[in-house]
Amino acid sequence: MAIERTLSIIKPDATRRNLTGKINAKFEDAGLRIVAQKRIHLSPAQAGQFYAVHAERPFYGELVEFMASEPVVVQVLEGEDAIAKNREVMGATNPANADAGTIRKEFALSVGENSVHGSDAPETAKEEIAFFFSGLELVG
Ligand code: CMP
Repeated sequence: MAIERTLSIIKPDATRRNLTGKINAKFEDAGLRIVAQKRIHLSPAQAGQFYAVHAERPFYGELVEFMASEPVVVQVLEGEDAIAKNREVMGATNPANADAGTIRKEFALSVGENSVHGSDAPETAKEEIAFFFSGLELVG
């Protein structure tokens, strides 16, 4: 297994409920290292650009409005097989389908307000990390 990096976002429903530390503990307990992290408030344009791949979906407007509604914590997680491992730790997109012990099972409110985002593949991880972080901010 290779050491990978993946982009994670702790979403507004979780930052609002003061869950950043509890969510970070889930990542660290799973062996993922938080090698970069910052709290930012996305504009609607920035949220729309990040989720441009979903622009044709019926929930796009709602998704963009939600992601720009309050601060988020964007972070880079590093570890063996980090992309798949993070997806395991997050659980299914819809918390109703998420396994016990996952972040979404424990914390998500709905399929839209689902507490975390994680990259789904190596190419998207690279693009999503570059969307939020410069090389200087990635110290490993
Ligand atoms: P995320 O992993 O951030 O990627 C796209 C997001 O769209 C997804 O998590 C969900 O939060 C959101 N999403 C997916 N399906 C729906 C839906 N049916 N209604 C609202 N939001 C959705």
